[in-house]
Amino acid sequence: MYFLGIDTSTTGSKAVLIDQAGLVVAVTSSPHSLQTPRPLWSEQDPLEWWQAVRTSVRSVLETAGVGGGEVASIGLTGQMHGLVLLDDAGEILRPAILWNDQRTQLQCDEIHRRIGKERFIQISGNVALTGFTAPKILWVAQNEPHVFARVRHVLLPKDYIRYRLTGGYAMDKADGAGTVLFDLKSRSWSDEVLSALDIPSAWMPRTFEGTEFTGRVTPEAAALTGLMAGTPVVAGGGDQSAQAVGVGAVQPGVVALTVGTSGVVFATTHSPLIEPEGRLHAFCHAVPGMWHFMGVMLSAAGSLQWYRDTLAPGMSFDALLNEAESVPAGSEGLQFLPYLSGERTPHPNPLARGAFIGLTVRHGRGHMTRAVLEGVAFGLKDSFTLIQSAGLGRITQVRASGGGTKGALWRQILASALEAELVTVNTSEAAAFGAALLAGVGAGNWPDVTSACQSTVKLTGSVLPDEAQVSAYRRAYPIYQELYPALKTSFEKMG
Ligand code: XUL
Repeated sequence: MYFLGIDTSTTGSKAVLIDQAGLVVAVTSSPHSLQTPRPLWSEQDPLEWWQAVRTSVRSVLETAGVGGGEVASIGLTGQMHGLVLLDDAGEILRPAILWNDQRTQLQCDEIHRRIGKERFIQISGNVALTGFTAPKILWVAQNEPHVFARVRHVLLPKDYIRYRLTGGYAMDKADGAGTVLFDLKSRSWSDEVLSALDIPSAWMPRTFEGTEFTGRVTPEAAALTGLMAGTPVVAGGGDQSAQAVGVGAVQPGVVALTVGTSGVVFATTHSPLIEPEGRLHAFCHAVPGMWHFMGVMLSAAGSLQWYRDTLAPGMSFDALLNEAESVPAGSEGLQFLPYLSGERTPHPNPLARGAFIGLTVRHGRGHMTRAVLEGVAFGLKDSFTLIQSAGLGRITQVRASGGGTKGALWRQILASALEAELVTVNTSEAAAFGAALLAGVGAGNWPDVTSACQSTVKLTGSVLPDEAQVSAYRRAYPIYQELYPALKTSFEKMG
């Protein structure tokens, strides 16, 4: 018996097949293209996702030599917040508007005006941000009324795949909360928010806890994928909550830290805690009955990638990081602000900008590289600090994943800047793996998500804070914190 996790991410659709012990049997991936038809826009064709899922699922079964009939259940995950609009017949009305699309600042302001910012935070747990789904719906209503008039169903990327697999309209509660049309406490659609935004509640699908069955594979989808008709599909979760399951961050105190293109600090909560000013995202977890806080930095490893490609093209990351290793912690006074794509947490501002500050003739490339690593670590510390002061209490362990945590230097800098033990785990493709675990729990292979994680996710390494670095960062971090407020007005004038 096997369980299948499918991740419809921004870059591609991945399929991960695991066995009853939670061991990964095969992983496949098929790419998606991304369209930027205008500045600030970011769109994809949902049909491309479905094509990529079909390819990945077929090849994961082939690679593993597993028949569709041996897959006991399927879990879905994917990029969060993306808006998919369907008409009465389930046909796609326009390209999906993605999580990293920035066109909706006016609609975010309007949501706060219509509902009242404080009230909106109380209900949804969040401020309206350009990345989220609700302002995207308003944008379509205001800019494409001919499209809006034909809308009958609102889905997220992973739920479009669910629709193609099962023929049903459904969504998990984690991603439901990420639309910010949710009442965070009751884990269901908010009539107050929907009616204030003139969005008919009939357009919103039924929502389910992460391990609940939402439907079964149709004969048509079975013929296209190699799966067996009737295979149950669990709700799953948005990529961040599924990823937290995949690394075993399912209890308060164990935080998931992802340093990919973007950086995420994710903390599980037992109750619907809210950061009073909405500076942290507060959503439902894919773990039934749990919630989470999340801080999102838009350019984490993306900052290092940009820096290497622009200032040291052709140089290997290893060679670049070697130069930074001999530079003292604190980069001899050099600071880097990582807001290369604007920022979400803790400064939700598309106009925030990146910067090197404090350059002198003494600084060389090694200093600049180290400053980038430290600036990203400080940006993540901002989220970490907000989470600690928002009622979560002591963070005992940080589970790190993503390309940026592969190198020992950056891991050490992160452990010292965050002043916490940083551990690595045996999972790769954590979101798809987490979705497969949710499928396994749904099918009864594990009694609950915590035991699924305990029996499958193993620690592979640990880094403790280094005392000398900790004191250097205790001096440098307060300076870092002063820089964005000092530069904010200038950034905004630069437009
Ligand atoms: C989370 C978010 C991103 C996407 C990326 O709020 O917007 O992490 O889910 O896939």
